[in-house]
Amino acid sequence: MVLRVPAGRMVGRDDELGRLLTLLDDAEAGRSVAALVSGDAGVGKTRLVSEVTRLAGGRGFTVLSGQCAELGDSVPYLPLADALRGAAQSTGVRDALSSRPALSRLLPEGGDGQRADEDRSGLARQQMFGAVLGLLTELAAAAPVLLVLEDLHWADASTRDLVTFLSRMLHRERVALIGTYRTDDLHRRHPLRPVVAELLRLPSVIAVDLAPLAPSALAEHLTAALAEHLMAAAPNRIDAIELNDLVARAEGNAYYAEELLAAFVGGDPAERRALPAGLAALLLSRVERLSDTAQRVLRTAAVAGRRADDELVRAASGLAADEYEAAVREAVTHQLLVPDGTEGYVFRHALLREAVYGDLLPGERTRLHATMSSLLSEEQRLAVPGTAAELAQHCLASHDIPGAFAASMRAGGEAERLGAPAEAHRHYDEALALWERVAEPEKTAGMAHGKLGLLSAANAADSGDVERAVHLLRRLRQAIAAQAEQGEGPVDVILASRIGERLAFYLMTIDDYKAAAEAVEVAWATVEATPAEPPTWQYARTVATYANTLLIDDDFDAVREWAARGLDAARAAGAPWVQADALVTLGFVSNRSGRNDEAIELLTQAHKQAREAKVLGVELRAAYHLARAHLERGDLATGGIVAYEGTMRANQTGLGLAPYGTDVQHLHFQCHYADGKWDHAQEIADGFPVRVTSIPEAQLSSMALFIDIARGNPVAAERRAWIEPFLSAHGFDGFIARGLFAEHALWQGDIELALAEAQAAIDVTFEPPWGYHPSTIRPAVIALSARADLAIQARAAGDDESFRAELAAAGELLRVAREGAAFPKRPKFILGPEGRGWLARAEAEYRRASGDNDPQAWQAVLGEFGPDYVYEIARTRWRLAEALAEAGHRDEAAEQWRQAARTADRLAARPLRRALDDLARRARIGTAEQHGDSEVLAALTSREREVLRLIAAGRSNKEIASVLFIAPKTASVHVSNILGKLGAASRTEAAAIAHREGLVSQPSAR
Ligand SMILES: Nc1ncnc2c1ncn2[C@@H]1O[C@H](COP(=O)(O)OP(=O)(O)OP(=O)(O)O)[C@@H](O)[C@H]1O
Ligand SMILES: [Mg+2]
Repeated sequence: MVLRVPAGRMVGRDDELGRLLTLLDDAEAGRSVAALVSGDAGVGKTRLVSEVTRLAGGRGFTVLSGQCAELGDSVPYLPLADALRGAAQSTGVRDALSSRPALSRLLPEGGDGQRADEDRSGLARQQMFGAVLGLLTELAAAAPVLLVLEDLHWADASTRDLVTFLSRMLHRERVALIGTYRTDDLHRRHPLRPVVAELLRLPSVIAVDLAPLAPSALAEHLTAALAEHLMAAAPNRIDAIELNDLVARAEGNAYYAEELLAAFVGGDPAERRALPAGLAALLLSRVERLSDTAQRVLRTAAVAGRRADDELVRAASGLAADEYEAAVREAVTHQLLVPDGTEGYVFRHALLREAVYGDLLPGERTRLHATMSSLLSEEQRLAVPGTAAELAQHCLASHDIPGAFAASMRAGGEAERLGAPAEAHRHYDEALALWERVAEPEKTAGMAHGKLGLLSAANAADSGDVERAVHLLRRLRQAIAAQAEQGEGPVDVILASRIGERLAFYLMTIDDYKAAAEAVEVAWATVEATPAEPPTWQYARTVATYANTLLIDDDFDAVREWAARGLDAARAAGAPWVQADALVTLGFVSNRSGRNDEAIELLTQAHKQAREAKVLGVELRAAYHLARAHLERGDLATGGIVAYEGTMRANQTGLGLAPYGTDVQHLHFQCHYADGKWDHAQEIADGFPVRVTSIPEAQLSSMALFIDIARGNPVAAERRAWIEPFLSAHGFDGFIARGLFAEHALWQGDIELALAEAQAAIDVTFEPPWGYHPSTIRPAVIALSARADLAIQARAAGDDESFRAELAAAGELLRVAREGAAFPKRPKFILGPEGRGWLARAEAEYRRASGDNDPQAWQAVLGEFGPDYVYEIARTRWRLAEALAEAGHRDEAAEQWRQAARTADRLAARPLRRALDDLARRARIGTAEQHGDSEVLAALTSREREVLRLIAAGRSNKEIASVLFIAPKTASVHVSNILGKLGAASRTEAAAIAHREGLVSQPSAR
């Protein structure tokens, strides 16, 4: 007699379900969200999540659901592959997959065995992540997406990184992500722990922790199970006391309860009282009721893994087909195995597999693993992605060292191809550990020990673990040195050169002066130890890297010399990718030494060469520096094209978020921000992450602030909240963010805050002993503008002392801006049009502060920016119009005003438009947008409304007069008229009315 447990009604999880359904609401509304569902084994995570996926499917979600496997933590992207395989029937998913070879490679039939490009630029992982993000975004455009990754406690490192990446990058896509993990498996040093901690810091990620079920819920569940099975008949009837006993023993664990019930009902009534204690013993007692052959199948399946391939298990069990089938049927009838897809079975619960596996005798276990190894070694099985990694584990478990070594090598290669450097490193490291214990390691591996070490290190670095790579390479270098000293055979100088070069290269990427100094030293020693003749690309590369290390000291002459030598060596060796790299360095140095035309020439060449040589990493680096050089020269059109092409390349190859991939994107953005194609610029900026958790992301988000602040987009506040924690982070020179926070504050009329933020930005750009940079000019001007406002107020209020203080502060800021423009650190630097425009603005703002708001000075600003910088031109015309109005040139002022207003409207630059409206009202030029006034205020003329606004701002009559360009006497007449019309007894009362009637907008609404 067997009790079938129905996948029936879910009990006692209303709250948790409710929270997960809210998640779906959010995803539907275009707010990407994630939930981490945790709880002990068997508590009901999968049950809850399957309820959510069912409901999501009903709501039209595209559901992708994948599982990690216990033996799978060395198989790259196992749950993702699982999810994609499961969803690949849907045409939408199939189409989205077919255009992404990085992803199709994960599927059994998609293993083309070839990497898309031969470029070892270490970008495979980013390409993979980019492809997943692209896939989800594409799917989410058609219908909301639910991605479920189950049992993350068994996830491979690449999957863990992917989950973090997705949680941070998804923002406005219609995507919900649910991950589950077992709390009781998460020991103190479990690698998922820090990941969970990091994810839960994101406000978009919620934790759903499943507590044991309440006794009443469990009782309900068991009663339903019994009723469904109609097993309530004698002799297996169960009375209330017995039921309560089961519920008490199950301790809130649904799975345990079910198993207790099944054992209770299915067992001999005489044994009922003596059910074994503990879940594992209970499960085994259920297994023991099966025939010997069925038990044998279960034991074999337990070694194969939770998901057992039918054919594989049959072969491993050594049973004849009919015998095997009968045994499987028996296990299925007893609810121990459950059919899974067309080709296999799964244990009804992972805990069951664990119990069976744990019960194997040592010799039996070794033998079964050995059988599994020999079956998996067959080429046809090995061709399926992930098999080599499994094979390595089976070999290790059956003490087959040579087998494990060979399988690890193969698994490493496979992981590399799949864009999973973390796993590649792990497998190569495993092979390195076994090296000494294998008879002919070089022959099996197809490479020398040092080469394998190099490969392992490169993959560690690509997976983000540069420290580990450096550690490995240092040791390899020492080993080679020792070998040379003791005369143990010839040293492979070329391999030694590669190791030294990579060590120097990775040391450079560590942000630390000591590492940088070591990089220079190692690179130099490697150059010296590498033979220049005959020409080799390795020598050329070593020289080119040495040139790069010299950039650390800004010694441009030396850099130029060595980069040129690297270039020659690369030519001699016929290594165009090294040539391209050296050319980028040369171009970069030319740019930095003020020879921008030469820089553009060199970089154009480098870009072309990198593209021809198909070195993606160098191509993007070249595109970035080239676009930047164009931009610096003020050639927005060409810069925009280069940056756009770079962006396309990066996106096509999934590198949109890799180092130079993000850089070309923000340059592309900057070009369109500058040239006024703002809807396009906004699209680009919207792609920059908001929920940033790393310095490069914070930098990218800071870029988006340019447009989000200039347009007054509410997302600016969210960006700010996320960027802020990085402002104090070492290595984050957030002057762009701080400068823009200052502009934001200024637009909102918060002068104190504007000054504080601008000063913070100025301070960051100060570099002793040289002084200020060109990047100082912009925040200095923002501060100057704030000082000018204060100086004008002080003068209007007749407060001479304050006026002089403000003017002095403005003078100091002007000095700072001028010093920044001179760039004392690089005297040969030539300021581009943007820098000159801002410098001219500094001069004009100082004149404004001093009370001599000179239209000529603003005209000069227009001239310096030239016609291309659309928004800056409009901003300047606003000030020019104001200066003209003050000077009494009303018509000219009106003309400037109109042009500025037209641009502001076209750009949707709301804060500028509001400033223009304000000027229009005060100077009576142009037409301010009317903001529906209330009835109470309807009696006031537009002029009176302006005056009331100023009253509400606490201004005196004299100040009002100065702001509105009218005589103080006129101002006082206006004030008494207003009081009369409003029936207000005092200015304070009038101010209160203005606030109440919404005439004075709240700062946040400005
Ligand atoms: N709330 C519930 N209502 C009804 N049945 C439940 C409930 N929770 C769990 N179950 C049942 O209990 C059993 C174990 O649950 P489930 O597989 O979801 O556990 P789990 O937390 O995913 O375990 P693991 O950590 O091993 O993956 C299943 O048969 C499931 O149907
Ligand atoms: Mg589960």
